Amino acid sequence: MATTAAKSGVRLSSRTSHFVLPKQWASMRKAQALEKETGKAIIHFEKGDFQGDEFKPAPHIFEAAAKALTDGHVRYVPGPGLPELRDAIAEEATNRGRPTKREEVLVTMGAKHALTQSLLTIVDQGDEVIFPNPGYPPDEFWIAYAGGQVVYAPLVEPDFHFDLDSLKGLITPKTKMLILNSPQRPNGMTIRQLDEIAAIAIEHDITVLTDEIFSKMVYPPSEHTTIAAVDGMADRSVLVDTFSKTYIMTGFRIGWCVGNEELITTMDIFQQNSVTNVPAFVQLAALAAITGPQDHVIEQRNRLQAKRDKVVAFLNELPGVECPTPEGSFYVFPSIRDTGMTAQQFADYLVESYGVGVVAGSAFGDRGEGHIRLTYAAPDDVLEEGLDRIKQAVENL
Ligand SMILES: Cc1ncc(COP(=O)(O)O)c(C=O)c1O
Repeated sequence: MATTAAKSGVRLSSRTSHFVLPKQWASMRKAQALEKETGKAIIHFEKGDFQGDEFKPAPHIFEAAAKALTDGHVRYVPGPGLPELRDAIAEEATNRGRPTKREEVLVTMGAKHALTQSLLTIVDQGDEVIFPNPGYPPDEFWIAYAGGQVVYAPLVEPDFHFDLDSLKGLITPKTKMLILNSPQRPNGMTIRQLDEIAAIAIEHDITVLTDEIFSKMVYPPSEHTTIAAVDGMADRSVLVDTFSKTYIMTGFRIGWCVGNEELITTMDIFQQNSVTNVPAFVQLAALAAITGPQDHVIEQRNRLQAKRDKVVAFLNELPGVECPTPEGSFYVFPSIRDTGMTAQQFADYLVESYGVGVVAGSAFGDRGEGHIRLTYAAPDDVLEEGLDRIKQAVENL
């Protein structure tokens, strides 16, 4: 295989030629650098994580992790996951309407690793993968790494739905996969066209990779539903979810995916040859999370819903800003088009002049242009301070 020219005495693989630092993290890097340089505190709405003590895993999750460590669960364990955890996940997927057995579950290092392994196991050189625009950039990275072709499906504002006719128009004999993410990142909207999309996937023999990491962060009256539960989709879908968001376990690095047994057996071989297994003490913490009391999940959702409502109402009062109400996730994705700035200009202006980090929507694809993404899983005083600064920024334009 060809290699790129050596700059440091190590000749890199040609597959690294498309490697660039993730665009979505440019805002985080910039906010951190400014904080270091100026010593001024930046309000971090750019991170895709929880902030503050009100967002912590429930005590029984910590206790299970600590007990697992003191009990000596520090050795290698079976690659696909502890049987009792696989069973609990199978039950969760079954409850979502996709009847699932243990052999159809793989426990992974976060949803990201489930997505990575799915893409590297399914996508061949030359395959086309339909990908929502805006979407989740790490998926694009692995499609390119596998030699596949990313085919963008432009989502339609204001609720970022698929245009089904144009979706059909993107399909060619090379189309192998369609990626869905519901509730969607970065805009928090749920995809309501699951029956229609499933019919298209079945007609054209397309696998659907469905990223449902915000499944438990959907605010009533909206509800989460999965395409994996639609008739004919159980075997042609890969359902990905995580403990990161539902149980506030972002740093534990544990997620899962459900697919047909042949696929999961193949992905398990990938996993055993890469990370071997997810650490047993982390799996035991996840087992406590998924089998233990779920009231804290509902409490978290209610708290986030109250924050969402406040943030949306505040932003909609600002001149030049329009913020649809996201149905789920912990993001808002307001349009700032009427300010006359591009998303990146606006994000730079906010962080440089007002010390508020946000992500330019264009980091998620050109259909994100004209928007910024803010994470509102933060303490109320931080939210208030950040929103006040945004108000000043908009008023002083
Ligand atoms: C759409 C989407 N998928 C997957 C992930 C990865 O989640 P995990 O922490 O489980 O790897 C994220 C992280 O924020 C995400 O936004």
